[in-house]
Amino acid sequence: MTASSAVTVSAPAKLNVYLRVLGARDDGYHELESLLLPLSLADEVSVTEAKKLDVVVDAEIELSEGLHAGGMNLALVAALAMAEACGGPGRGAEIRIVKRIPVAAGLGGGSADAAATMLALNELWGCGLARGQLMAIGERVGSDVPAMIAREPVLVRGRGEQVAPVHVVTTWWAVKPSDFPTRSPDAYRWWDEDGGAVGPDPGALVAAAESGNVELLGHALFNDLEAPVARRHPAVAHVKRAFLDAGALGALMSGSGPTVMALARHMSHADQLAAAVPGAFVVSGPPGAG
Ligand code: C5P
Repeated sequence: MTASSAVTVSAPAKLNVYLRVLGARDDGYHELESLLLPLSLADEVSVTEAKKLDVVVDAEIELSEGLHAGGMNLALVAALAMAEACGGPGRGAEIRIVKRIPVAAGLGGGSADAAATMLALNELWGCGLARGQLMAIGERVGSDVPAMIAREPVLVRGRGEQVAPVHVVTTWWAVKPSDFPTRSPDAYRWWDEDGGAVGPDPGALVAAAESGNVELLGHALFNDLEAPVARRHPAVAHVKRAFLDAGALGALMSGSGPTVMALARHMSHADQLAAAVPGAFVVSGPPGAG
């Protein structure tokens, strides 16, 4: 396989259409089940040949200093893992990230950048690693990274690293990020502290997503991390209420939060929902189809 001199890969954000936490494990992680939907909101990762590994962020959104470093680190960790798997630790590249996905928001931005970095370096360096091999490397970088390497809707299990593709109809959402971050370890710890409530069997929800029955899907959305996070951050519940009052089919916190997503009937309904909640915007997932 021949190497290229520059490669650009989009890094779509994700939404957890449902997130069911089954219990704490001995290794510090939690056993979970989730349906991850890639979204039209995406960062962009470009890699070019360089003497050493370096990450540069062009932020199109406001980033606080601490959060800035966090996103960069996961892409760098992914790049180091790729260098180890292909070409040795001396391998270099400049990794440039156009950042649009809010950071520490439950939208998987850091994992998306890591996954896109791996896909781009695989091409730049002519590694020729198969999707499954990249996922096995990505699993060490973060629980969500294999799902982001898939770049399609997936059902995940285990700590998130067991990935199975699922065909779902494109849906439209209004998205409201918050002006405060939440961290995954905190959200999972709060779930433990609050007694660990486990959501319902997601069979009907998955069927509704597959068939595009948005009314049913709206009623079925759930995230077991939402109540513990909303208890500590009431803004999450307030935003959810505002979306439901505006006529959303359903609303939930994505991932470990604090971003709240509201399901719309169609694109113009999503516009209406976003207009009703200050700071909200519209996305579709999976992107591409109408
Ligand atoms: O895998 P990742 O580095 O993204 O996980 C960050 C943290 O989130 C873990 O250290 C753990 O505290 C928590 N987590 C969890 N169960 C999961 C995924 C993440 O408890 N399935």
